[in-house]
Amino acid sequence: MNNSRVSLIAAVAENGVIGRNNDLIWHLPGDMNFFRTTTTGHHVIMGRKNYESIPEKYRPLVNRTNIIVTRNKNYSADNCLIFHSLKDAIDHALNAGDEEPFIIGGGQIYQLALENNFIERMYLTHVHESFDGDTFFPEFDEDQWNLTSVKMNEADSKNIHPFTISVYDKK
Ligand SMILES: NC(=O)c1ccc[n+]([C@@H]2O[C@H](COP(=O)([O-])OP(=O)(O)OC[C@H]3O[C@@H](n4cnc5c(N)ncnc54)[C@H](OP(=O)(O)O)[C@@H]3O)[C@@H](O)[C@H]2O)c1
Repeated sequence: MNNSRVSLIAAVAENGVIGRNNDLIWHLPGDMNFFRTTTTGHHVIMGRKNYESIPEKYRPLVNRTNIIVTRNKNYSADNCLIFHSLKDAIDHALNAGDEEPFIIGGGQIYQLALENNFIERMYLTHVHESFDGDTFFPEFDEDQWNLTSVKMNEADSKNIHPFTISVYDKK
């Protein structure tokens, strides 16, 4: 378990918005590809609302072990693992030998993960635009993180907003 780390991956607007009406707001195939390739082969741990926001034909997310966190003891979803605590979900993924389980949101689960110091690396896609929304990425203290990688993506015909993929490692 020594060579493992728990990571978080999110796409965040300039004003901190990550979602609206239990849905994503922007369509950025370049970022979706980054999300898919980064998380493939790993455990992806998500809140119940995030899971239900994924269109049925895309869930569970393929080639990943999907874990849903809910307080509902009767909850079930085909081909997913269900946990009632985020810590238990993370421990399960690590005990299964995953060297990089991913917390994939939404807002409540990001908040829980950061306030409990579960996260060692964050992959944040900064979308260079502000949006109206109802779900936000938690405020975090940038002094506690090293920005270890930055990749700027200009807007193009498929990705109408410019975005920067930044990797932050916990100091
Ligand atoms: N931009 C991005 O990168 C990104 C990524 C992911 C999601 N999103 C967006 O985020 C939004 C959803 O986020 P959200 O904050 O509304 O919900 P969420 O974090 O996805 O899920 C919240 C649910 O998680 C469960 N939960 C929360 N705390 C818990 C705890 N301590 N123990 C056990 N279970 C717990 C509860 O499920 P029960 O109610 O079943 O008990 C709660 O209702 C959507 O708009 C989605 O599109 C954006």
